[in-house]
Amino acid sequence: MSAGRDKRIVVAIDGPAGAGKSTVAQRLAQALGYVLLDTGAIYRAVALAAVRAGTAWEDELGVAALTEALTARAGLRLESAPEIGGKGVRVWLDGEDVSTAIRTPHISLGASIVSSVPRVRAALLDLQRALGAEGGVVAEGRDIGTVVFPRAEVKFFLTASVAIRSERRYEELAASGQLTDFDQVRSDVELRDRRDSERAVAPLRQAADAILIDSSAREVDAIVSELKDAVLRWSG
Ligand code: DC
Repeated sequence: MSAGRDKRIVVAIDGPAGAGKSTVAQRLAQALGYVLLDTGAIYRAVALAAVRAGTAWEDELGVAALTEALTARAGLRLESAPEIGGKGVRVWLDGEDVSTAIRTPHISLGASIVSSVPRVRAALLDLQRALGAEGGVVAEGRDIGTVVFPRAEVKFFLTASVAIRSERRYEELAASGQLTDFDQVRSDVELRDRRDSERAVAPLRQAADAILIDSSAREVDAIVSELKDAVLRWSG
């Protein structure tokens, strides 16, 4: 495939929680006129669906069956909605708007658990690929450049130190009125990192052809403009 002017490509952004992926992905999508594909929201919705169904997150067979049934009935929908703030993504679970309900620390933990189930990941692949099929997307997650869109034209792996990521997460929770203590946040971040990196299927890792960006000591604006330049070098 050759680069062409105005080609609308797939941009993959992977990295651990709190590396600034959400903000950067959202701002990059906006700058390019692309759609943001927030794949974490999909795993979060599955975790919430399990709670609603009374299925324990650790019940791998139960969660797998639930996810397969959910995708089979097209019960999970994502919609771009910049007006709602936050990630600017509206998430529908069986017709119910769960955009807010999926953004709690409890559901973060659940998403991390259910996302380690191979059948859950497999069941969600088609949905993610369909959402990116037309190009013109910035897809954000953990395995976008390695598994979901291994042929994405431009890939980034965004990371930052554990201390910085915990601080950001703490501030984010405080800003949304969810008070918690810093040590708890830091140990949650470490736990999620371990789970995301050590799972057997699609672990969090940098694709060989991804550009590594360390956001620890950098302003968001500078990162977004670096990413945008890299995308435009490819696409036009
Ligand atoms: O990005 P996030 O915090 O919303 O993601 C929630 C959880 O989902 C996180 O623990 C990792 C998992 N996840 C994943 O396994 N693969 C993705 N592509 C996106 C998220």
